[in-house]
Amino acid sequence: MASVPSLASNVQQRLANALSAALPEAGSADPLLRRSDRADFQANGILALAKRLKGNPRELATKVVDALGTESDEVLREVEVSGPGFLNITLTDAAIIETLAARAADDRLGVALKADPGTTVVDWAQPNVAKEMHVGHLRSAVIGAAMVKILEFTGEKVISRHHIGDWGTQFGMLIQYLEEHPHELDHRQGGEVSGEEAMSSLDRLYKAARAHFDSDEEFKARSRDRVVALQSGDPETLALWQRFVDESKIYFHSVFDKLDMEIADADIVGESGYNDMLAETCRILEESGVAVRSDGALCVFFDDFKGPDGEPTPLIVQKSNGGFGYAATDLSAIRNRVGELKADSLVYVVDVRQSMHFKMVFETARRAGWLTDDVHAFQLAFGTVLGADGKPFKTREGKTVKLEELLDEAVDRATAVVREKAEKVGLGEDEIIENGRYVGIGAIKYADLSTSAVRDYKFDLDQMVSLNGDTSVYLQYAYARIRSILRKAGDARPAAHPELELHPAERALALHVDQFGEVLAEVAGSYEPHKLAAYLYQLASHLTTFYDKCQVLSSENAPELVENRLFLVDLTGRTLRQGMALLGIRTPERL
Ligand code: ARG
Repeated sequence: MASVPSLASNVQQRLANALSAALPEAGSADPLLRRSDRADFQANGILALAKRLKGNPRELATKVVDALGTESDEVLREVEVSGPGFLNITLTDAAIIETLAARAADDRLGVALKADPGTTVVDWAQPNVAKEMHVGHLRSAVIGAAMVKILEFTGEKVISRHHIGDWGTQFGMLIQYLEEHPHELDHRQGGEVSGEEAMSSLDRLYKAARAHFDSDEEFKARSRDRVVALQSGDPETLALWQRFVDESKIYFHSVFDKLDMEIADADIVGESGYNDMLAETCRILEESGVAVRSDGALCVFFDDFKGPDGEPTPLIVQKSNGGFGYAATDLSAIRNRVGELKADSLVYVVDVRQSMHFKMVFETARRAGWLTDDVHAFQLAFGTVLGADGKPFKTREGKTVKLEELLDEAVDRATAVVREKAEKVGLGEDEIIENGRYVGIGAIKYADLSTSAVRDYKFDLDQMVSLNGDTSVYLQYAYARIRSILRKAGDARPAAHPELELHPAERALALHVDQFGEVLAEVAGSYEPHKLAAYLYQLASHLTTFYDKCQVLSSENAPELVENRLFLVDLTGRTLRQGMALLGIRTPERL
């Protein structure tokens, strides 16, 4: 494991040094290095600096070039002053290929581990017991899984928490109904229960319980008593409750399996997991004065949260009937995650519509001292999934869409796309089925990950499995094409040749490959996985231009040229594969 600094960071550093050597009064000014079409990089920072120091930018730029001393430099081939005072910077071919060769020699592609890794608890994939999962749960799962992988890759210690909705008053009626109809959750003896079966019996039970609850006052009263029994830990009631949880987990796991995602049972710590802490959480809040009684309820007030009527909207930690709600649970979870799990960062991958809840919860936890200044709490908020009509995604009948059906449909469509090309590529039936899954599930994940999380996005399967444009299939094809070239290369092996002159399309591809680690560090730091998706899409686009301009396996190419191009293609493939893996998307060898 050897980390390889990127050429951009190397040049940036040297420019910054030259700047302060040429102009000690500039302090540590940013040279503002950018990729450029005219040279490899352009530095624009001198303009602003000259303005600030009331100097002539071109003169200043010339001084910086002198301070750089590029004469027979190993990395800088040419640094030229252009326009009003930009620097155009061209690197030597050797530096580019040697840097990439160092990456290729490393399992982590030379990507540095974080210097000061901490512990991040990521709260993601949190469906609700006895309820169908919806597209919002899908988003949390997809974005959360990617975020976990990306953070882990940077060396951060990550603990996942699936804060499932497995507690609350609605369990009263469910448990009561099950107690009165004890065989409702029984399944055929033997054979395993499928996720779909589990969900449909839960759903049936839920509807029946609801109907009773709404029409039968005595059942309603018995259900209310059940809530009390559940909260006081009555063993028979807990055992019945557990059956709902177990049945739901069968369903959750089947959806996560379809999503090609691993969810560890040990990380499923739902609302019930904090039950023992709730009373204490409220007591501390009340005793410290952070929360006060208002009409019997225990509330926390804020200056900046007001309802439409202008009245302050409080965070209610305990209802007037003594019941604890969502907020008390989340506050207790913070105590656990910071106090016991020793988290430095808390990330919540949750619908943007819960933003106010989290703002209030974080602020309350800060006032109570559970969140200190050295703990960062962040809601990675995501927007709503919309249908083709631009309205929240529903079936034609206006019902919420069943996730499993949606995933199956994506896989069906993707399989059809894969099948069309299967003969040409020589895929057998098993591979068609497998690739169909990887393409279909990849399409759903990528659509979710390729736009900034907080924006709403349209769920459009046709677009998602399209071969053109910013889709996962496009990236998967780019990868498969790379693998196919490497197979066709026969005896020719990828090998770096720093002595060769690079074509502009090779430089563009190479410099983009070289940025991988920096993009990852940025994505991990700002919790923005869509920037990794954008990077990978650009990588595939650079590759396409490269193929257009540069033949790889042409018989007219000298053997070194073939080897060097294979080297570039191979490293691009490894980068693409690694990046896609971090997004949770497979890259089949043949497609
Ligand atoms: N179960 C909740 C829902 O379906 C999401 C839970 C989010 N996590 C949390 N710590 N509140 O909306």
